[in-house]
Amino acid sequence: MNPLLQVTDLQTHFFTRDGVAKAVDGVSFTLEKGQVLGLVGESGSGKSVTGFSILGLVDPPGRITGGQILFDGTDLVAGGEPALRHLRGKRIAMIFQDPMMTLNPVLRIDTQMVETVRAHEDVSHAEALRRAREALVQVGISPPDERLKSYPHQFSGGMRQRVAIAIALLHKPDLIIADEPTTALDVTIQAQILSELQTLCATSGTALIWITHDLAVVSGLADRLAVMYAGRIIEEGPTAEVIARPRHPYTRGLIDSVPRGKRHGAMLTQIKGMTPSLLKLPKGCKFMPRCPRADRVCEAEPSLVPLTSERSVRCFHPHDDAEEVLQP
Ligand SMILES: Nc1ncnc2c1ncn2[C@@H]1O[C@H](COP(=O)(O)OP(=O)(O)OP(=O)(O)O)[C@@H](O)[C@H]1O
Ligand code: SF4
Ligand SMILES: [Mg+2]
Repeated sequence: MNPLLQVTDLQTHFFTRDGVAKAVDGVSFTLEKGQVLGLVGESGSGKSVTGFSILGLVDPPGRITGGQILFDGTDLVAGGEPALRHLRGKRIAMIFQDPMMTLNPVLRIDTQMVETVRAHEDVSHAEALRRAREALVQVGISPPDERLKSYPHQFSGGMRQRVAIAIALLHKPDLIIADEPTTALDVTIQAQILSELQTLCATSGTALIWITHDLAVVSGLADRLAVMYAGRIIEEGPTAEVIARPRHPYTRGLIDSVPRGKRHGAMLTQIKGMTPSLLKLPKGCKFMPRCPRADRVCEAEPSLVPLTSERSVRCFHPHDDAEEVLQP
């Protein structure tokens, strides 16, 4: 059976006055029905642009310059806007960091939700309203009737994000792309939303791409992790394995800098140096200037190489599989 989503050698570049920023430079991954993929990496590594590319939401000066995005057998790159128009919001939904990217400030929640349902489905107002109620209950807003009559500004930040998630769920999408949706929320609400989404994926078969810079948050949620650096995936595999035995020096650096749990009292280390500008990337391995394992070999460009059927890494000198780090 084909995977739900298969991204192959995706290239999304920004043609700026100062040069071409290859925000996504040869990204490939697959996602099965019901699977949760955590897309992690530092700021500027290309996580959001990857998500926006799938939904065809990259604006000039950016554009997809190559690769394939197969969603349930349809190539979204070749199909362009006509192919995406039928899928966006219906079979593929996006949850943004700022819920106001989804919500209209001047419309009541019931109006927005009913319009969303009826944009893709020929159902009565009453049926659309029933679906809106159901979606609100699903994200823990209960009883929903009073809430439906409110405007976005009458909600707290956490509630607004729940409503935005409810809107994403209205069509029972096959894929949700969530771009740091809980970053602005306090930890209790963040944990509630994470657990609700996890239950939803497990029960409804919805696949989820969870974009975040926070390895600790995603480690409890994702089945698989893809770690991005400078527009590329540098390590990919089952979450528990990547966290316990990171093979790429960058992934290891990320994990060593998580101040949590069993690491309490242990020395925290930071990855040296800064995220490089995409306009001034080094030749060869893009992580070389920051890498404690770098040598002359790394002046060539490493490829993402499978280590097992489940894991791959882009590094000439990956850490040994036997080297286990403390769990974050
Ligand atoms: N509108 C734009 N114009 C020019 N370059 C852009 C634009 N949007 C993104 N980029 C380039 O793409 C890179 C990746 O951006 P992206 O938003 O995907 O990063 P990210 O990994 O989501 O980071 P963050 O954690 O900060 O959200 C940026 O560093 C920048 O170089
Ligand atoms: S290829 Fe070399 S520089 Fe790049 S991550 Fe591996 S060891 Fe470090
Ligand atoms: Mg981002």
